[in-house]
Amino acid sequence: MCGIVGFIGNKDSKEVLLKGLEKLEYRGYDSAGIAIVNENGVTIFKEKGRIADLRRIVDERVSANTGIGHTRWATHGVPSKTNAHPHQSTNGRFTLVHNGVIENFDLLKREYLKDVSFVSDTDTEVIVQLIELFVKEGLEVLESFRKTLSLLRGSYAIAFLDERDKDTIYVAKNKSPLLVGLGTGFNVIASDAMAMLQVTDQFVELMDKEIVIITKDKVTIQNLQGETISRNPYTAELDASDIEKGTYPHYMLKEVDEQPLVMRKIIQKYQGKNGELTIDSKIIDAMKQSDRIYIIAAGTSYHAGLVGKQFIEKMAKIPVEVHVSSEFVYNMPLLSEKPLFIFISQSGETADSRAVLVSVKELGHPALTITNVPGSTLSREADYTLLLHAGPEIAVASTKAYTAQLAVLAILAEVTAKSRELEVGFDLVRELGIIANAMEVLCDSKEIIEQVAREFLTVTRNCFFIGRSLDFYVGLEGALKLKEISYIQAEGFAGGELKHGTIALIEEGTPVIALATQEGVNLSIRGNVKEVVARGANPCIISMKGLEMDEDSFVIPQVHELLTPLVSVIPLQLLAYYAALHRDCDVDKPRNLAKSVTVE
Ligand code: M6R
Repeated sequence: MCGIVGFIGNKDSKEVLLKGLEKLEYRGYDSAGIAIVNENGVTIFKEKGRIADLRRIVDERVSANTGIGHTRWATHGVPSKTNAHPHQSTNGRFTLVHNGVIENFDLLKREYLKDVSFVSDTDTEVIVQLIELFVKEGLEVLESFRKTLSLLRGSYAIAFLDERDKDTIYVAKNKSPLLVGLGTGFNVIASDAMAMLQVTDQFVELMDKEIVIITKDKVTIQNLQGETISRNPYTAELDASDIEKGTYPHYMLKEVDEQPLVMRKIIQKYQGKNGELTIDSKIIDAMKQSDRIYIIAAGTSYHAGLVGKQFIEKMAKIPVEVHVSSEFVYNMPLLSEKPLFIFISQSGETADSRAVLVSVKELGHPALTITNVPGSTLSREADYTLLLHAGPEIAVASTKAYTAQLAVLAILAEVTAKSRELEVGFDLVRELGIIANAMEVLCDSKEIIEQVAREFLTVTRNCFFIGRSLDFYVGLEGALKLKEISYIQAEGFAGGELKHGTIALIEEGTPVIALATQEGVNLSIRGNVKEVVARGANPCIISMKGLEMDEDSFVIPQVHELLTPLVSVIPLQLLAYYAALHRDCDVDKPRNLAKSVTVE
């Protein structure tokens, strides 16, 4: 969602800010802006649309060594130039960007800002007006900022400029992510290290309710009481080339193709010296001590959780519940006596999941985060972390993170099972190796899958995915992929549920994608296909070698039956990709969506 960048230092800030914003585009946004300050005051450029649109209006003749920038994903107020950040206080002295949601903005307007006429519909404008108000009442700028923050309820990452002090950027954060980057003769801020890898790989994490005063040579972190906090920087282990598309037309296609490599990397990262898979013993103890595991996640990560439940229950024999985080927040079920919470999140920043983590910690229960982003909020705040090692995932549609999540969940299940002296019945390292090879075969079958997408998905307005057992969960993921990037209305169903209502939706030519990779239910799912065909559906069966039949459209290589989701999802990812491409959709940045959903 919204992204923030800032630069203060030894050169013109405009290009660093614009490049930084381009690197944050993947998070999802609908308008963007920058503000720069020099001895002549503050200049703001902002525009609805893409960074390319913003670039067109930036006046090259104005230069300034200090600036802040923002990509906005609309929450309060429509996407528009007026609602785009930065926002200014009425007298123009303060200019501010904000990521998050100020829940009590209306109350603050009524209590403190009755006489102010607001320019935008945003919650953000309240913050900058409060800073101006308290300065007018006699507080120093920093004191005014502190007082303003103490009044805010909700989430924020904030950066602001004071027109009278071109050598300082003021920053604060609560719940929304923000990092400070360190350089020689300059310092930067960014919602995500990727935005500032162009100038530094040294970053300092910020904790909630901290304030930071940044000049070109100094970074001072304070708590709300004004006490100074010292914190060492860390080196971002990201390669700038990891975040480039290279020769690929889209990040999504690159990330689909990276999956075999990610599998091999995960094996290597989780393999001990003796060749056995290994996981921090504290995590395995937490698994063994729990009487029930609660998996909490959203979107694709939730779908990974559904498969993960099967891995853990079948291998480690511990009962698992899987919950959508946004529902769990309000509808917490009766918990077992010794629960262990597992948060699955590619970004580690999903606000809905974080809200659950906060409640879980208040209740004193242990929590493990499985994430792709070291140092992310969910990772920092949980007791334990397992990393996906998938490399940055830029496309909004999650692909390699999903298969990485499944692999890590399988490893967690296997290591727990072994430490409970349970027989797993197969060699997971070997099976993951076979999976990596199968993934390669599938990534090389793009032409056939593109053809299937052309045949089934070019003109349709809807599409159904059916499957039984593990295939049902993969179908849910296939439907999510298709709807989010091609805008085809797509739904996943359990094959057996069709007759209980869904079959009423089948019309002449409705595409029904059926997964048939599970031996025990192979005949039943094919029976479901017959039922929909009898009602006019256009069936596309994706089966697995060994279970294939003449009518199948595509056959995936044979892998261990429990691990099929790692492989059967790939044709579905590619189907979604080609359907979106054929329909001229913006594959990497689908409308209305954000990569990192940092508001509840
Ligand atoms: O970063 P997270 O894994 O917590 O994100 C959860 C969902 O927002 C995410 O998986 C979303 O559903 C993807 N766009 C799906 O491709």
